[in-house]
Amino acid sequence: MAGFSRRSDLVQEDRRPGAHACRPDPGRAMRPIHVAIVGCGRIADMHAPGYAGRDDARIFAVCDTDPTLAAKRKQEWNAERVYTDYAALLADPDIDAVEILTPQKLHEPMVIAAARAKKHVALQKPMTIDLKKARRMIEAMKASGCVFRLTDNYIYYPPLVRLREIIDAGEIGTPTNLRIKFISGGLGGWQVPASSWKWRMQEREEGRGMQTFDHGHHLWAAATFLLGSIDRVHAWIDSIDGVIDSPAVVTWKYRDAMRYGMCEYVHAAELSIPSDYYANDEWFEVSGSRGVAIVRRCTGRLDTGPIISLFNEKGWQHFSDIASDWLEGFRGATQNFIESIQGKTKPDLDGTSGYEILRLSLAIQRSAIEHREVFVEELDSTWPLLTRMRLRRADKKLQSKEGLLARLFGSTQRYASQAESLTLNLLDRYDESQAKGWSSTIGISLLADGSAPAMAFGLYIADGKPRLEVGLPEDPVLLITIPAGTWAAILLGKKRIETAFLQGRLKVEGRLEEALPLRAAFRI
Ligand SMILES: NC(=O)c1ccc[n+]([C@@H]2O[C@H](COP(=O)([O-])OP(=O)(O)OC[C@H]3O[C@@H](n4cnc5c(N)ncnc54)[C@H](O)[C@@H]3O)[C@@H](O)[C@H]2O)c1
Repeated sequence: MAGFSRRSDLVQEDRRPGAHACRPDPGRAMRPIHVAIVGCGRIADMHAPGYAGRDDARIFAVCDTDPTLAAKRKQEWNAERVYTDYAALLADPDIDAVEILTPQKLHEPMVIAAARAKKHVALQKPMTIDLKKARRMIEAMKASGCVFRLTDNYIYYPPLVRLREIIDAGEIGTPTNLRIKFISGGLGGWQVPASSWKWRMQEREEGRGMQTFDHGHHLWAAATFLLGSIDRVHAWIDSIDGVIDSPAVVTWKYRDAMRYGMCEYVHAAELSIPSDYYANDEWFEVSGSRGVAIVRRCTGRLDTGPIISLFNEKGWQHFSDIASDWLEGFRGATQNFIESIQGKTKPDLDGTSGYEILRLSLAIQRSAIEHREVFVEELDSTWPLLTRMRLRRADKKLQSKEGLLARLFGSTQRYASQAESLTLNLLDRYDESQAKGWSSTIGISLLADGSAPAMAFGLYIADGKPRLEVGLPEDPVLLITIPAGTWAAILLGKKRIETAFLQGRLKVEGRLEEALPLRAAFRI
């Protein structure tokens, strides 16, 4: 998998080879990596399968403050040691790594203690509850030299990985929009223990919604993973019952790009969602200049159609041969953790990118509270108001520059090199039956575009018989002026002539009515 985020302005961690020296222990290479699962609650069920059948890593110990649960898990996962005290577990020299699966408020102290004990850490999302804590965690892990990896199963969910491959391969052209739909039901899915709801309710009371902050991490991680770094958000977060932060709409703009996203939250209190996990489901749709790609489900099975559908110039293609069980994302996350410890790869979601997602989640909450657009960089700025003003000014400049570039070149510039040959072959597409008795002189002036130079042609039609010459006619009845790429895109059927006209790329002078027989006779 490529690096998680395509751009990050955040404090960079030390990613030099050997930076993960952690605890030198030559003997360890002879045995599997010993991992301890810390917090054996609901989500631990999804972490254990990633270790099953491996010979390079195993669940060596478990830890939970609930001794009955800890003992049950030890047996279930065939672990060797059981702890109810995290400090005692960290003092165990036979443990190489911890998977921290506890409520978010415990994440900071637990990660800092693990860093001091020189244990590699996989930490369930969200990293923590505020940015100061997150920075302290990054610092501590950096000083330890151990692997620090945030667990977000969505960026390993095979259909989303495939969606990114589709985008990266240019199958939908230049991506401009992402739409996510999240739906939760009042019924269905697996049982969630009451103790698990308790800390989530406290989170809600402190202003971090269960759907938009806690679960939201997955969606913001997926949105970043698919289309890059996000620089501002605008959110409306409501609540039907005062408990669940839904319905909600979250919108965002990607950094330095004409690219937008939106997520719609629905809570259908009376609906049972078919799911083996939480009573949720999500779907994702990315649109670009050449097509649309859809991932139809994630946590649940609300839509049973093909997992991915792609529409572009080849028509619809549907894919069903991709593993789509929600569990697969967790397996991918475990694989990344183990391989990072082995030095075979780097964590896809490390402290830096985990911080980026946390900042985004907090910006979304702030936007809803303050009823305004929030730039993510405001959140860790000493002078938020000045930062906002600076970013707004930069944004205006960027928008006018992007608008100008789009008007001049758009995405059709890549066809510019074909403009000359397509124009020289114009007569091949001539349909004489559409031009009976027509006489005209039409000039075509192609503007330089990318590597294509400016060119000019004359079309001379005498009583329905066409002739093409290089160079502009002296006195054309109609003169067309257009960038070479846009003209080529029209002749290739990639762009409509009306769109080019409305965008101001196609200029016509002279007798406009001549355009009608021109379009009919040359099938433009
Ligand atoms: N990736 C996902 O899809 C996903 C889904 C749910 C939860 N999560 C995340 O996983 C984490 C755990 O969530 P959960 O739903 O499993 O919660 P949970 O409440 O079901 O489990 C947490 C467990 O931690 C134990 N615990 C609490 N304090 C402890 C301590 N000091 N030492 C050891 N154990 C302690 C509790 O006894 C409990 O068994 C959270 O960070 C949550 O956001 C992720």
